[in-house]
Amino acid sequence: MNETSGIPQEHLLGKYTVLERIGTGGMAEVYKGRHEKLGRDVAIKVMHTSLAGDAQFTARFEREARLSASLRHRGIVQVFDFDKQGDRLFLIMEYVNGGTLKQRLETLRAEGRYMPLKEISRIFQQVANALDYAHDQGMLHRDLKPANILLDQSGEAYITDFGIARLLESEEITRTGSILGTPDYMSPEQCEGKTLTFTSDIYSLGVILFEMLTNRVPFDADSPLATLQKQVHAPVPSLTDTRNDLPTSLDVLLRKALAKEPETRFDTAEELADEFSRLAVSVGDSNPPAARKSTPAPVKPSNNMSYGWIVAAVLIILALGAGGFWLWKLRQTSAASAARCVSVETCERNARALATADRPLLAIESYLKAVSLVPADQQTVNAQLPCDLGDAYARINKKPEARLAFRECIAWTHDEAGLAGLRQYAQKRIKELK
Ligand SMILES: Nc1ncnc2c1ncn2[C@@H]1O[C@H](COP(=O)(O)OP(=O)(O)OP(=O)(O)O)[C@@H](O)[C@H]1O
Ligand SMILES: [Mg+2]
Repeated sequence: MNETSGIPQEHLLGKYTVLERIGTGGMAEVYKGRHEKLGRDVAIKVMHTSLAGDAQFTARFEREARLSASLRHRGIVQVFDFDKQGDRLFLIMEYVNGGTLKQRLETLRAEGRYMPLKEISRIFQQVANALDYAHDQGMLHRDLKPANILLDQSGEAYITDFGIARLLESEEITRTGSILGTPDYMSPEQCEGKTLTFTSDIYSLGVILFEMLTNRVPFDADSPLATLQKQVHAPVPSLTDTRNDLPTSLDVLLRKALAKEPETRFDTAEELADEFSRLAVSVGDSNPPAARKSTPAPVKPSNNMSYGWIVAAVLIILALGAGGFWLWKLRQTSAASAARCVSVETCERNARALATADRPLLAIESYLKAVSLVPADQQTVNAQLPCDLGDAYARINKKPEARLAFRECIAWTHDEAGLAGLRQYAQKRIKELK
């Protein structure tokens, strides 16, 4: 789901000249731009054309842009304007020139260092302050994560993308309970598609704090679904699992921020930030230990949760709620009973042969085994697999399971231009299965 706008340099979007592209996310491309008359640099967020073509999406975009533009706080990226030009729907924002908190954490990880507690405390206070302001205005963020915290050259922090996650709510999703966001930072209630409260954002803030302290997220897993499950069920890991120079009082603090029950978390972000600063001062930064250097992480399609994954997560939750847990049970039991094959290739070959021989149940077993054997960094290469699994389910009329498998197929192909055909096929099949 990444149809790019590919806007050439010097192109005019409204009153703004497009300069270079700064980044790409699940929903949009971001460009540096310039308002010539005002001599002001701006960031232009251009929504993917596939989304901009949807009338409902456009209406929601305008509503959210208007709401975001009403937020005025020094810790929130100011939205100046929004417009539509042809099939390009775009948002004009304040340009922040120091990268994202995500990039800052990646650099530290690569250098084998932790962020100094003083810096964490400063950034965290700024973010908390801005978040409380937005909450006072009745705005939830819904997708707080380091990629949505921008830093300027002096290291001051700014939250961006308020309410943007809401744009992907479809009427159908809203009716059945919405679930949007990024699995690593999503609260348990968001994972389960329940109603969000202000403390859902505070939970995400707790995850960010955990990551700033340890260079890793608390509920890391190999797949988005496993992460969602951990968010809902797993206890908060102790910071001492990663570093031994932090007091246990910080564990207590994080357990409260990351409480599974929304009402037992901190009431406000500042309460959390103040408590953290108080505890951090007592530790000091005299000699922060060296962190483990990161090795290149396997490609995990979930961390920057694209539209494909968001939809996949929705379906996963719905399917789980509606008895789709069967799929996972079957996946586990089948892993044992289909143990005849031991590699992705042989399991896939078996599955194809069984499907051709009209043995769909056995074929499904083999497909599930094959899927379970695919390493996270080879999902794209094996993207055909979940699509074939979907076909096999459809053949025996297991529609929810088939839709779920096709959603996985979409997620596995989400950013690959060469796999667009397969993705379109999966999208078509999902429509047919409704
Ligand atoms: N106002 C801004 N000023 C400067 N750079 C920005 C601004 N907004 C976004 N960016 C850059 O553009 C990149 C893409 O942003 P975008 O919001 O589209 O994606 P994301 O937040 O990384 O992920 P997703 O939208 O999929 O959740 C960011 O990572 C950041 O580097
Ligand atoms: Mg963003």
